[in-house]
Amino acid sequence: KSMVILISGRGSNMQALLKAGLPVAAVISNNPTAEGLAFAREHGIPAHAIDHHAFPDRKTFDNALAEIIDSYQPHLVALAGFMRILSETFVDHYQGRLINIHPSLLPAFPGLDTHTRALQEGVKIHGCTVHFVTSQLDHGPIIIQAAIPVLADDTPATLAARVLTQEHRIYPQAANWFLQGQLTLTENHVETGMACD
Ligand code: GRF
Repeated sequence: KSMVILISGRGSNMQALLKAGLPVAAVISNNPTAEGLAFAREHGIPAHAIDHHAFPDRKTFDNALAEIIDSYQPHLVALAGFMRILSETFVDHYQGRLINIHPSLLPAFPGLDTHTRALQEGVKIHGCTVHFVTSQLDHGPIIIQAAIPVLADDTPATLAARVLTQEHRIYPQAANWFLQGQLTLTENHVETGMACD
């Protein structure tokens, strides 16, 4: 069983998945300068850059991306800091085996700049979410979440760093559960096979 990871930049979540020993078949980025591509290559993982600027529209980019992904026949596709909105056709093609990590406790703070918004709203608990990807942005069935306290002197940067540590913990957990067949998705609800993990 293998997985493909899609990145757009640093790829710290991809690194965490690799370090956790997940069977990563390939890393693909829409950004040819993504630092994560170099990390993958240094660790002997096939790394592809497919620049979305080189395509006339979203659909042709998504098709080209899917062709590369499908060449690896992965059981799981993980978005990790992947900053592209994917078309419904693409999401439907990978439905049920496409997951994403989002830096907030969904459904709170979908979209960008989650840490700044969390501070602006004065929430006392913040965190991150791994969810199945559906055509509704940042709204798919939730697999696992981690919560952290928001501290009085937090800035977006200190909050992001504390959340990122949890991202690197829950993403490998979620991927392992999926690849070990521990996740069942019924309607909008995810059950993990572990009675107590
Ligand atoms: C992280 O906050 C992640 O939650 C979001 O993108 C940010 C960068 O992720 N999806 P990474 O370091 O590129 O994995």
